[in-house]
Amino acid sequence: MIRIVVPALLGLEAVVAEELLSLGHEPAAVETGNGRVSFQTAPEHLADAVARANLWLRSGERVLIELGRFPARDFDALFDGVSALPWEDFIPPGAAFPVKGSTRASRLESVPACQSIVKKAVVERLRPRLGLAPGAALPEDEQTAFCRIQFTIVDDVASLMLDTTGEPLHKRGYRPVSTEAPLRETLAAAMVLLLKWRPFSDEVLVDPFCGSGTLPVEAAMIACGVAPGAARRFACERWPAVGPAVFAAAREEAAEFSRPRLLTARDFAADGRRFVFGSDLDPAAVALTAKNVSRAGVEGLVGLRAGDALSLSPAALTEWTGSGRRLVLCNPPYGERLLDAEQAAEISRGIGRTFLDRGSAPVGSRVAVLSAVTDFERLAGAPADKRRKLYNGMIQCHLYQYFRWRKPAP
Ligand SMILES: C[S@@+](CC[C@H](N)C(=O)[O-])C[C@H]1O[C@@H](n2cnc3c(N)ncnc32)[C@H](O)[C@@H]1O
Repeated sequence: MIRIVVPALLGLEAVVAEELLSLGHEPAAVETGNGRVSFQTAPEHLADAVARANLWLRSGERVLIELGRFPARDFDALFDGVSALPWEDFIPPGAAFPVKGSTRASRLESVPACQSIVKKAVVERLRPRLGLAPGAALPEDEQTAFCRIQFTIVDDVASLMLDTTGEPLHKRGYRPVSTEAPLRETLAAAMVLLLKWRPFSDEVLVDPFCGSGTLPVEAAMIACGVAPGAARRFACERWPAVGPAVFAAAREEAAEFSRPRLLTARDFAADGRRFVFGSDLDPAAVALTAKNVSRAGVEGLVGLRAGDALSLSPAALTEWTGSGRRLVLCNPPYGERLLDAEQAAEISRGIGRTFLDRGSAPVGSRVAVLSAVTDFERLAGAPADKRRKLYNGMIQCHLYQYFRWRKPAP
């Protein structure tokens, strides 16, 4: 069996694991660690598993193939272990193969020294297989192919991996530019998945601080079953062990999967109804969101407008969205990258007034706010029903969740 490793933002490991299970991997084959999730696959299914993971994972950061794992207490052991691995099966002639890595709690402490040993060992392995003389330089060109080697050495055990993804998975392709302080696409998708939003039900999703629209776009892509990687390329499409054919098949499968859902969504939208909504104080942000929605192929499904979130009333929200039942999901400015601490506190108070009705969300609503404001709950006037620690880049945040959906009295 071959291990495939998916690095994840801290706090999102369980979401990535859940996604792998829905891709059909057996629970026993999926293992969750700190900042990473891995799964095992048989060698004959490797290419297919790699293609589908790259195309479909919404919350993972990359897809890495682990080529080997061995004890490495000194440089000789590292060199021998690396040169015993079948690099030629993965790295085509002429490809660039930079090396990146980390070490922890190990005798081999110097990352640059380990990087150059790994590079040297791979070069020595490949040279005779490419018919090159001892000592000859290997031609490397990113345009030919890109095979980033990643190693970790933890407790004197080295793990050698190849990055199949290239540009990280959060680069979906629909957001070439963003407003300030955007959410990473993988985190936005994970927030929608964590909230278990059910599209096409009568619950609409509203982001009243939408910025460049990452939450509405990811929600609409989830609703329509659009594969997040469908519109981009991956490094391993040029590798001999993976190649373009499995990606062509996976893209075709993804198009088949999303077609009926996109049609349903368009039917839904044909009579003017929308099921995802975004607004922002800044009209330029709304215009950018509209472009991103369109680039993601989910235009027509998302209702947008400019406006002050804090002047919305439950009645105004119902009138705008056409539904009294909603999931408000947002990441307002929290005074780190946008606005100052007092302005961020004022927004937290405003969210409490506007969306939580000073503590108790109105009947029919769920509210989830990603914030780094430490006393958000006090400012908003209510303890959250559930809070989850997440990281937005390096900033520690909490996703404060309020579930106040009660059936109206008969
Ligand atoms: C952290 S950014 C949101 C980023 C967004 N999630 C993205 O991925 O691009 C916060 C946004 O809140 C907007 N904003 C600030 N005060 C607002 C208010 N009172 N009403 C509506 N939007 C507001 C800002 O213009 C900014 O675009």
